[in-house]
Amino acid sequence: MALPEASLCLDHKLLPSSGANYGKQRSLGLVELRYSLRTLGNGIRRCGFRSVSFCSTDERKNLSKRSCFLRCKCQKADSVSGKTNVNNVQELNQLLQSDGEGFTDGNINGVGTVDGRKIEEEAWDLLKESVVYYCGNPIGTIAASDTSGSSILNYDQVFIRDFIPSGIAFLLKGEYDIVRNFVLHTLQLQSWEKTMDCHSPGQGLMPASFKVRTVPLDGDDSVTEDVLDPDFGEAAIGRVAPVDSGLWWIILLRAYGKCTGDLSVQERVDVQTGIKMILKLCLADGFDMFPTLLVTDGSCMIDRRMGIHGHPLEIQALFYSALLCAREMLAPEDASADLLRALNNRLVALSFHIREYYWIDMKKLNEIYRYKTEEYSYDAVNKFNIYPDQIPSWLVDFMPARGGYLIGNLQPAHMDFRFFSLGNLWSIVGGLATVEQSHAILDLVEEKWSELVADMPLKICYPALEGQEWRIITGSDPKNTAWSYHNGGSWPTLLWQLTVACMKMNRPEIAEKAVLLAERRISRDKWPEYYDTRRARFIGKQSRLFQTWSIAGYLVAKLLLGNPSAAKVLITEEDSELVNAFSCMLSANPRKRGRKGFKQPFII
Ligand code: GLC
Repeated sequence: MALPEASLCLDHKLLPSSGANYGKQRSLGLVELRYSLRTLGNGIRRCGFRSVSFCSTDERKNLSKRSCFLRCKCQKADSVSGKTNVNNVQELNQLLQSDGEGFTDGNINGVGTVDGRKIEEEAWDLLKESVVYYCGNPIGTIAASDTSGSSILNYDQVFIRDFIPSGIAFLLKGEYDIVRNFVLHTLQLQSWEKTMDCHSPGQGLMPASFKVRTVPLDGDDSVTEDVLDPDFGEAAIGRVAPVDSGLWWIILLRAYGKCTGDLSVQERVDVQTGIKMILKLCLADGFDMFPTLLVTDGSCMIDRRMGIHGHPLEIQALFYSALLCAREMLAPEDASADLLRALNNRLVALSFHIREYYWIDMKKLNEIYRYKTEEYSYDAVNKFNIYPDQIPSWLVDFMPARGGYLIGNLQPAHMDFRFFSLGNLWSIVGGLATVEQSHAILDLVEEKWSELVADMPLKICYPALEGQEWRIITGSDPKNTAWSYHNGGSWPTLLWQLTVACMKMNRPEIAEKAVLLAERRISRDKWPEYYDTRRARFIGKQSRLFQTWSIAGYLVAKLLLGNPSAAKVLITEEDSELVNAFSCMLSANPRKRGRKGFKQPFII
């Protein structure tokens, strides 16, 4: 399909200020160009630069002055936004000492006094430098800008999931264009004909990442064009399917509308179609008996084999949140009636399933410990035939008297008892967990601070797989050794999800304490992707530096601490219809009979 050619006067402001991946475009110093958009047979989106004029040397000097000026201006504007209540090491010490976690002399690992504002300013500069441009417009942020020599792999691409904190940071800062461009351009990638060994993924799948390539136009070296090259997993390590991308896309789209008040994007016909395509893919019938989404291993933030195939919590939490967001945005029309009905039914069944069967605390654990097995009946208590011997010994010590959490995965005769941070936090944010469960999850984070947070927030999961278990479950993955990377590593980016969850539950002090901990090291360590060891003491073995979502995650946390009500753009709550339907399900459940008097508004 060829789209009409259009002309664009490129504002100098739009030209990137640094970064290797768009060097060609920069050195050309384009100031005016004509472009056309077209789709090539190989599925690459092309934006051709037809006529180009170049900057004179003086103009180029001016240009670099301008981008410098912009950066300085941003620093000034940004410096007023950080308003945490605790702002230095002494205060952090007091906070931590009250938990028996204090530092000996206020000089942590030789860091000395930490200036949160400076770190924030640096983070904004780095985030702006990570911006990737397409046809002169900001379209996303590069995964990492690490020039330290470790192999780039695909860290020079824009990852959908990695861009979410960047997008939220820009939205909260009032910089809307980049998010709008991201949403609309990734939408165009959605319906790509991509195949792996002759097989195409389902229509509606969003790519894991994309790269903007600047290439000579039709063999003419003097003129270049930008092309968008998506990766749906067909080039990714392990060929993993990015199930989370479309769900995050819907969540970001809603946040854009909430933040800007501009609903015209979500109302566009192509955007409405995009939402429906994602929903259709997720709501399609399969062989499954559960309302949870069935996925292969590595289909989310943990994009390698880690034993999270089946019904991992992270995907369910994002699924639920995306369903609620989509429900808010879908235009009411006859053609969508069936889809909306399916969506509503799924919401109720999904929340019931997760709240009932994924939840564990001391009481539930004791119940599982005494489970009878091999129950053949409709009203079995131990529905999934869990053998009590599965309760791992670490859990007996880990489970605090106060608090609880949603387990990582549930399958027939299998409970994955590991604690996965993102799944639990997003269950709070999206309302998949009940209010009591949400508080209990945050109680657990407080009670188990030294296990889950320790020296750097936040463990991606707890505990790590070791020995034989590691060999079997990860396939002896040398990157995922115990307490490293996805296997119990600590990821600073998770700060933002922690902060949104804390804001929703009105417990900002937890996020505040975590942000202060991060500030002790994160900038000095050059914004690593992840940390290793039980207490997150080392920068990760193969961790990238200047990882954009570590930077953006920190910024979102700071912005929300300064303005807690802004968290609303990400939070979803159940409405009365859903609460009512959920109560009906509860009263229909043999274990919870006795609650009567609710009408069932949805067909379940
Ligand atoms: C790693 C992470 C993944 C992230 C990617 C780019 O593969 O596991 O979640 O999107 O790096 O940062």
